[in-house]
Amino acid sequence: MNSSPKSQKSKGLEQACVQYKKKWISEVYRQKISRNDKLPLMDLHAVFTGHFGKSASLEVSSAGRVNLIGEHTDYNDGLVLPTPIRQRCTMLLSPRADQMVRVFGVQKNQLLEYQLGQERAGLDWLDYIQAVTEVLRQDGHALTGFEVAFSSDVPQGSGLSSSAALLVTTVKALRAAFTLPLTDTEVAHIAQRAENGLVGARVGLLDQMACSLGQDGQALFIDFRSFETRSVPLPSNLELVILHSSLTHSLAANDQGSRNYKTRRAECEQACEMLGVSSLRDLLPQDLPRVASLPAPYASRAKHVISENARVLKAVTALEQGDLATLGALFYASHASMRDDYDVSEPEIDLIVDLARETTGIHGARLTGGGFGGSVVMLADKGAGRKAGEQIAAAYQERTGIVPRLLSPQE
Ligand code: GLA
Repeated sequence: MNSSPKSQKSKGLEQACVQYKKKWISEVYRQKISRNDKLPLMDLHAVFTGHFGKSASLEVSSAGRVNLIGEHTDYNDGLVLPTPIRQRCTMLLSPRADQMVRVFGVQKNQLLEYQLGQERAGLDWLDYIQAVTEVLRQDGHALTGFEVAFSSDVPQGSGLSSSAALLVTTVKALRAAFTLPLTDTEVAHIAQRAENGLVGARVGLLDQMACSLGQDGQALFIDFRSFETRSVPLPSNLELVILHSSLTHSLAANDQGSRNYKTRRAECEQACEMLGVSSLRDLLPQDLPRVASLPAPYASRAKHVISENARVLKAVTALEQGDLATLGALFYASHASMRDDYDVSEPEIDLIVDLARETTGIHGARLTGGGFGGSVVMLADKGAGRKAGEQIAAAYQERTGIVPRLLSPQE
């Protein structure tokens, strides 16, 4: 196409303006995010328009989750009890006519792209989006390319499901954009397949179910054998305190050594083989003497799972009765089991739990999520959580030199 020098000049000027605007937006938001890790929705819309030159056609968001109790039970057909947290992933999306996918990640301040059908692992955080489109395409859903901007204040590696929040948000955004006939439970399954697949983390289904189905103010009881789900309201005398130790973990498949998620899963499978059961869910507390005859570490791994399932059932009853003392004792027992039998805690995490025991207004504390770092969830009397959390955070920082993050309750 021929164009006059004048129109070339104005085109050049226009491009320079667009580049300048993008740079300015990036800088403004980089500063905002480095201050408090979250971006108001209005600003996310401005980021989208700044990068893609048009408004987003839809907006979807999913909260992270804190698991109250029932840890490392999901992939053993067991019981769990998560609830949503305030921190969430928010995504704006607009479809394109071609096959190109362009994604701006606010926290990374980075725009990455790929072609549908050419998904390949190894592109950092873009793998989460690629993993979802790969699974949806495998299932025969018709997609076109799209543009996305997303922002998440669920801290990575905190045991609060930053990955599942991003995956579930992506599936739900694509469901809305392409009118895919998927229930929230199916969304969770797709998100899990994406994480197991291209992302390469062989996680269970707890996080994706919690992020897709969780409702504010409710715990979600899930039985992974029968797939029964039930909402359990959080009692009004309870306040959750969530303190991130600032030790981050990774669930990825290539972790070295034997203290990792993948090894724990394999140990459970081996324990089942030795016991002649198809799943650890087949065993009850009365089977513990038989389990104790297994060699190390299988006896203690199986013991954790069996005793944890029993604690979840008791926790549901305690929650329904607003019985914080019983619930708190179950939290401490669950933590001890994760520390001693399942061996997924760290000294810094144990310190937070010990500090919680000495703090007025706290009834129980435990490591939440996969472990090897991450966060501690504590039960506090309503109104006492912030002060107690701040006290524990200050003592932790003084003893370890590590700056923790008090994620809940908010000021
Ligand atoms: C991680 C995994 C979940 C679950 C928990 C431990 O969060 O993603 O599937 O196994 O660890 O309860």
